[in-house]
Amino acid sequence: MPDLAQSIQAALSERFGERLDVDPALPGLDELSRLAARRVHRRWLAREVAPDLLRLLCACALSAPSKSDLQQGDILIIREKAKRQTIAALLPEMPWLSDAPVFLVFLANGRRLPRIAQLRGKPFPNDHLDLFFNATVDAAIVLATFLRAAEAVGLGCCPISVIRDHARVISEMLVLPDKVVPIAGMCVGWPAEVSGITARLPLGLTLHEERFEEGDLAAQIESYDRRRAALRPFRNQRDPERFGRADFYGWSEDKARQYATPTRTDFGAFVRAKGFRLD
Ligand SMILES: Cc1cc2nc3c(=O)[nH]c(=O)nc-3n(C[C@H](O)[C@H](O)[C@H](O)COP(=O)(O)O)c2cc1C
Repeated sequence: MPDLAQSIQAALSERFGERLDVDPALPGLDELSRLAARRVHRRWLAREVAPDLLRLLCACALSAPSKSDLQQGDILIIREKAKRQTIAALLPEMPWLSDAPVFLVFLANGRRLPRIAQLRGKPFPNDHLDLFFNATVDAAIVLATFLRAAEAVGLGCCPISVIRDHARVISEMLVLPDKVVPIAGMCVGWPAEVSGITARLPLGLTLHEERFEEGDLAAQIESYDRRRAALRPFRNQRDPERFGRADFYGWSEDKARQYATPTRTDFGAFVRAKGFRLD
């Protein structure tokens, strides 16, 4: 399969700015080529996603590994138009949400385990940060596995963490009980267009061997900013009234500006109000 090996190499080279060896005789190259070239989708064809297909993909996603086999990640399918419109209206800056044929919410479920302890008449002395952390990690793995399953059948997805800007409202609307919190939503549909690959930080920064090494962070970030801008420059600069207009506007400038404004500072209070103890 030389074509697949070449396409993986081309996608990863665009992604990381580095040539990786790909053995054309490796099994599973079709899966690797989907992963290497993956991208989120934000435009959809006016075509339904059949309920049976969605159920199949959710079952595959929920086959993901789970911490201690505790199974603390759940998926909520939202079909009702009114609910979808209420969520979309909270996020007008993301029109891909209202247009998507399917919207899912991935839930960290820290409720089932203490309930099982109760059902079995056992104490539950583990109501602390780890309960929230384990449930969140499980839900995130389910989300990532759903992406993989959906992309395998040709669907496109866009996770939506911005729903957490409105966690309390969405939680009330979805009647989520105590110790069940949304970690992210997800738009799912048949893609109407293929967007570009987003370059990632160099493996020199994110892939460590034997020990954690940061290396020359400033130089690596500068070079990443330049490589990424050459592939797909940012169209808009964030907050120019506050920070001015940069001659060169790279990824690191964008992220530094993004996180110069407090976001979701009430999320901890929301999670605590949902009954998680974070100590
Ligand atoms: C947990 C998570 C939450 C995300 N939330 C949003 C979101 O709220 N809105 C959005 O448009 N994209 C969202 N994204 C998509 C990212 O912006 C996207 O993955 C990133 O820009 C890199 O692009 P790529 O996935 O095409 O490589 C999210 C992705 C993840 C993994």
